[in-house]
Amino acid sequence: MFKVKNGFPENFLWGGATAASQVEGAYDVDGKGLSTSDMVPYKPMEHSNDNMKIEVTSEQLKAYLEDDSKEYFPKRKGVDFYHRYKEDIALFAEMGFKVYRLSIAWPRIFPNGDDKEPNEAGLAFYDKVFDELEKYGIEPFVTMTHYEMPINLVLKYNGFESRQAIDDYLRFAKVIFKRYKGRVKYWAPFNELNMMLTSPYTCGGVISDVSKYKDNEYQIKYQATHHQLIASALATKLCREIMPDAKIGCMIARLETYAATSKPEDQLQALLDEQLNVFYPEVLINGKYPNYIWRYFKEKGINIEMEPGDEEILRENTGDFIAFSYYMTYMATANPEPGVQVSGNLVGTSQNPHLELTDWDWPIDPIGLRITLNRLYDRFKVPLFIVENGLGAHDKVEDGKVHDPYRIDYLRRHIEQMKEAIIDGVDLIGYTTWGCIDLVSCGTSQMSKRYGFIYVDQDDHGNGTLERIRKDSFYWYKKVIQSNGEDLE
Ligand code: BG6
Repeated sequence: MFKVKNGFPENFLWGGATAASQVEGAYDVDGKGLSTSDMVPYKPMEHSNDNMKIEVTSEQLKAYLEDDSKEYFPKRKGVDFYHRYKEDIALFAEMGFKVYRLSIAWPRIFPNGDDKEPNEAGLAFYDKVFDELEKYGIEPFVTMTHYEMPINLVLKYNGFESRQAIDDYLRFAKVIFKRYKGRVKYWAPFNELNMMLTSPYTCGGVISDVSKYKDNEYQIKYQATHHQLIASALATKLCREIMPDAKIGCMIARLETYAATSKPEDQLQALLDEQLNVFYPEVLINGKYPNYIWRYFKEKGINIEMEPGDEEILRENTGDFIAFSYYMTYMATANPEPGVQVSGNLVGTSQNPHLELTDWDWPIDPIGLRITLNRLYDRFKVPLFIVENGLGAHDKVEDGKVHDPYRIDYLRRHIEQMKEAIIDGVDLIGYTTWGCIDLVSCGTSQMSKRYGFIYVDQDDHGNGTLERIRKDSFYWYKKVIQSNGEDLE
């Protein structure tokens, strides 16, 4: 009989998460090629959705490559993790991390994406990172690519719009699987697959204005999605062949959506939004395109170009777990005038009057996390891993200290709800807070939007000593981990 748990399981994986392009810097060091993220300029925003899409046009890309744009590109500098990884990992270890989610910069390994041989210096860098993690007994969770594709593949064939991207991605996958076999247990082929629907450049190196499908933006996004789904399934197959003991799952941005009212039309809209969000695990965990998507494709004029054997690839190579980011909940309405809009994780939403907002106007909804965990587990019955959650906020250094009670409060309330979900019966295996060390924001490239337990002395324009300072939340999270989620005060 199922035994109700009363808290976090003993082997629960507590930790933190970052992405290569937001922390490493050293964008042109040791043979690294340019990536899509290196081409995203500083574009600050706080309280509106206008700037949220981090899309790049073909004209902008040309200017950025020729470097005559006078723009500042903060992701190229990151927070210099490339040279400071030892110090940073020692700080993670001091907090007691059991797991550290990081990504591998694809163009560090294949600078142009289609090179004959991988770049040994790039591979050696991650060897050293894994050595350091092993030293402290921290399990790496690797996102194989987190929003960065070699720019050459964008210029050559428009990223994942082309089926050729699958082959180039799999060559990269094979190299890293073979190299890091036995050292990495948890893998995710891509970060937030569903963000293709909002930001195809960021998610898949797809520039809409040069797409061969440019008359139908839905066709662009879902064709590229299909290629990433096939690439994910084939990476899963490869991973199992090379490392039968490893676990590989899919990763999405979880957009938990409430209907704005009890009106049936709003409820129906919420159902549709939910279907589009879980479409990704439907394919990668259940192994097939779900029935509901075909009507949507028909209505949007989407005609997925599949190859013979694609359905079989998806059916036979399903993932072990669902990893997801959770920051907020969304509101669905059928009303053409949806009311006050607020900002969010690459996607905005109508404001939910019951929720407070962050400094960047993202709604805060800890109970939504419990709802989402239950909903995903009920539907898919596979282990869940929260690989991003956290509060982007302004922090101030006072007498060499950073007091961040707002961050502690945010995380505490989310962890409480995770515990509730575990008691509900959800199989939750880990939690990595986003930006465990301050990093460059993905959406706005701001440094001032800080998520970390560790403060990094650098401003939005790249000025600062890069010194690391432990915030109050650092000591708090250490206690949380030590007590396995029991001491949240
Ligand atoms: C997620 C991304 O969508 O949100 C991260 O996977 C990103 O890369 C995070 O940093 C938070 O978004 P932002 O825009 O505040 O950095």
